[in-house]
Amino acid sequence: MFLNNLRLFNFKNHAEVNLAFDTPVNCIVGKNGSGKTNVLDAIHYLSFSKSSLNPSDVQNIKHQESGFFLRGNFTVNGKPKEVECTIQTAGKKVLREDGQDYARFSEHVGKYPVVLIAPQDIELIWDGAELRRRFVDTILSQIDRVFLEHLIVYTHQLKQRNSLLKNFSDSGQVDVQLLETYNARLIESGEYIFKSRQKFCLDFAGRVTQHYRYLAAEEAAGINYKSDLLEAGFSQLLKNSVQRDLALQRTTTGIHRDDFVFTLNGYEIRRVGSQGQQKSFLIALKLAEFEVIKAKLNVKPILLLDDIFDKLDDNRIHRLITLVAAGTFGQLFITDARPDRTLTILTEAGIKARIFTIESGTFTSTWLQT
Ligand SMILES: Nc1ncnc2c1ncn2[C@@H]1O[C@H](COP(=O)(O)OP(=O)(O)O)[C@@H](O)[C@H]1O
Ligand SMILES: [Mg+2]
Repeated sequence: MFLNNLRLFNFKNHAEVNLAFDTPVNCIVGKNGSGKTNVLDAIHYLSFSKSSLNPSDVQNIKHQESGFFLRGNFTVNGKPKEVECTIQTAGKKVLREDGQDYARFSEHVGKYPVVLIAPQDIELIWDGAELRRRFVDTILSQIDRVFLEHLIVYTHQLKQRNSLLKNFSDSGQVDVQLLETYNARLIESGEYIFKSRQKFCLDFAGRVTQHYRYLAAEEAAGINYKSDLLEAGFSQLLKNSVQRDLALQRTTTGIHRDDFVFTLNGYEIRRVGSQGQQKSFLIALKLAEFEVIKAKLNVKPILLLDDIFDKLDDNRIHRLITLVAAGTFGQLFITDARPDRTLTILTEAGIKARIFTIESGTFTSTWLQT
């Protein structure tokens, strides 16, 4: 997949920017706060119809303006494709492909895959299970449409069941039969999600192990899938937890409680990993994501590398850049506040690139030829 042109209008700090990309490796350089990450986020928007940073669409509109507009012209499997996204303070989000509005955003998922490696990835290790579930679910949703449908159904039905439990508690009356029908709706989707996550994790963990070895050392990086459903069938679990669910007025068992435990030599990396090991783990995770999406969709995702040179030591940078030089990735976008560093790294690796420099809101591009 290749992004040929990108247009940003009133998106975050950018009033109007039109960029043309004609080469796989693109660097965006400029001082802190100049809007480098925002350009990557615009590409993220066109892929996921949302920001990687700010979950509120309207907060991505340039201050004092009433809406933003993004357009990307891609080449996918040799065909030109245009994706547009418009957000207005007063109005709905509109996502369009080749001039046609999507009725449901879920139809867009997986069509323009992007993999982002960014400073905030560390939250995947440090935060609660929800972020890790979202990470896995986002990959699965892109490669398996049925999974995405089940996830939408499950999320909706879980909310419904929880309000039912609350109603029971408010009214002091429990309708066991009604609860059974709610359970039935959860079970089918829950079982599908469980099986998908379990199968995915087995394959994915192996890839993470390999990438970690390549990037860092002969240590065993892994992922353990944790789920209530590993202990019993979902229907049995729901039966067993009726009293607790009624008492707590929420569904206390199910795949919404799953976790993916990141490990190093069998121990939780959050507890035993050094900063360097954790960073290597995160990059291994993202390289595995890239690989899985590429294999399943038969398209190389666009790779967004936000400020990663800041976070890695020379050896790991060298490893990663070796992959870039070998043409492992398709198109990639690298940001760096220190142009000299990026230029040196790329020049030494013999990588041809285009450099976009942001200065006082204006972009200029130069060609780095080695
Ligand atoms: N909605 C918005 N309107 C205007 N400016 C914004 C908005 N959101 C973020 N910004 C500005 O964008 C800048 C940060 O851009 P960013 O892409 O993160 O910079 P960097 O080049 O360091 O990656 C900040 O100056 C911030 O104030
Ligand atoms: Mg930044």
